[in-house]
Amino acid sequence: MLKTALIGCGRISPLHLVSIKMLKEAELIAVCDIKEDRALSTALQYNCKHYLDYKDMLLKERPEVVHICTPHYLHHEMAVFAAKLGIHVITEKPMAIKYEDAVDMVNCCKENNVSLSIMFQNRFNKAVRFIRNEITKGSLGKPLAARVIVTWSRSDDYYGKSDWKGTWEKEGGGVVIDQAIHSLDLVRYITDKKPLSVQANIFNRKHKKFDIEDISEGIVEFEDNFTLSFYTMNYFTCDLPIDITIHCEKGIAKIIGDEGVIDYIDGRKTSILLQEEDKIDYGGNVKKYWGYCHYTEIESIYQSLQKNNSNDPKKFNDLVEVSGEDGLITQQIINAIYESGINSKKVELPLGY
Ligand SMILES: NC(=O)c1ccc[n+]([C@@H]2O[C@H](COP(=O)([O-])OP(=O)(O)OC[C@H]3O[C@@H](n4cnc5c(N)ncnc54)[C@H](O)[C@@H]3O)[C@@H](O)[C@H]2O)c1
Repeated sequence: MLKTALIGCGRISPLHLVSIKMLKEAELIAVCDIKEDRALSTALQYNCKHYLDYKDMLLKERPEVVHICTPHYLHHEMAVFAAKLGIHVITEKPMAIKYEDAVDMVNCCKENNVSLSIMFQNRFNKAVRFIRNEITKGSLGKPLAARVIVTWSRSDDYYGKSDWKGTWEKEGGGVVIDQAIHSLDLVRYITDKKPLSVQANIFNRKHKKFDIEDISEGIVEFEDNFTLSFYTMNYFTCDLPIDITIHCEKGIAKIIGDEGVIDYIDGRKTSILLQEEDKIDYGGNVKKYWGYCHYTEIESIYQSLQKNNSNDPKKFNDLVEVSGEDGLITQQIINAIYESGINSKKVELPLGY
C-alpha cells in the first residue's frame, strides 16, 4: 500500500478521499487544511491525522503520494515542495496559473524522479474513450474541425462565498481556466493533435463584482489544418451538458455531457450511453461534477506507481496516464487564450517565456 496525504479539504476533496478509501493500493495517513475545522472533521471522518501546515505534514509524515486540492495559485509551490521530498504528486486542474510554473513543476518532478499527474478525469469517461478509440483506429477518417460549447452557471453568490475564486491572482482567470479547461483538454486528447496557434476574445459581461472573464470565444489551430472553435461562458442560468462536436471525414462524433453519438456518413449510428453500472458511487453527500471518473483516474495512477516500484524506477512520469508533460499542452492553450484575449492578437505556440 502507498502511504498518501491530501492538502485542501474543500469541495473537491471528497472525490479524492472516497477514491483513496476504495483503493487497495492506497492508505490515507494525513490531511491538511489551513481551516482547522475542515482539517479536523475530514481527519475524523477518514480516520487519519490532521495538519494545518502542509510543509509540516509532508516533512513529518513523509507520504509516498500527495493529492493537491487547493486553490490554483498554490498548486505550483505545493507540487515543487513535495517533489523535492521525493513524493509523487497528483494535482487538481489546472496545473498552475502561469505556464512557466507548470513547466517548473514538470522539471522538478523529473529531477526528483517522482510522477506528476493532473486531474483531467473526463478523459476517462466512457463516451470520450469510445470516440477517441474510433478516431485513433481511423474508422472516422481524418478529424477536420471541432466545436466546443460550454454554457454553465457560476453566480455572484458562488464567487462571493469563495476567498480565492473570481480573482486573477488566485484563480488565474474565470470560465476558461476553471470550467472550459476540461472540454478544451478533451479535444486535444481525443484527436491527439499538436496546437499551433490561438486567437481568442475574453470579456467580463455579467460578473461585475469580479474582474475575471466570464465569457470567451476563439479558435485554436492545430497541425493538419484541424481547428477547434469554442464558445464558453458561465453566466447561464443552469449548467447545460457540455457539447463537444468533432467533424471527421467519415462522420460526426458528438459528446453531450457524459454520453456520446457517432453519425457515420454511410448512415450507421452508434450511441454511447451511460449505464447504471458505469456510475461510480462516491456516497450520497458527495457533490457531483461533470464526469464521474475521479476514481478511475486515481486508481490508474496508483496502479502505475505500484507496478513501477517493482520494475523500472526511472520512468515514473511516463507511466501515469495524464502526466505533467501531457498537461502542459493544455496549459499552453489556456495561457494562450488569455494572452490573445488580453492583447487582442494571435498567439503562436509553443509559448516562449
Ligand atoms: N476536476 C474537477 O472537475 C474539479 C471540480 C472542482 C474543483 N476542482 C479543482 O479543485 C481545486 C480545489 O477546488 P475546490 O472547489 O475544492 O476549492 P475549495 O475552496 O472548496 O477548497 C480549497 C481548500 O484548500 C484550502 N487551502 C487554501 N490554502 C491552503 C493552504 N495553504 N494549505 C492547506 N489548505 C489550503 C482551503 O481552506 C479550502 O478548504 C481547484 O484546483 C479546482 O479547480 C476540480
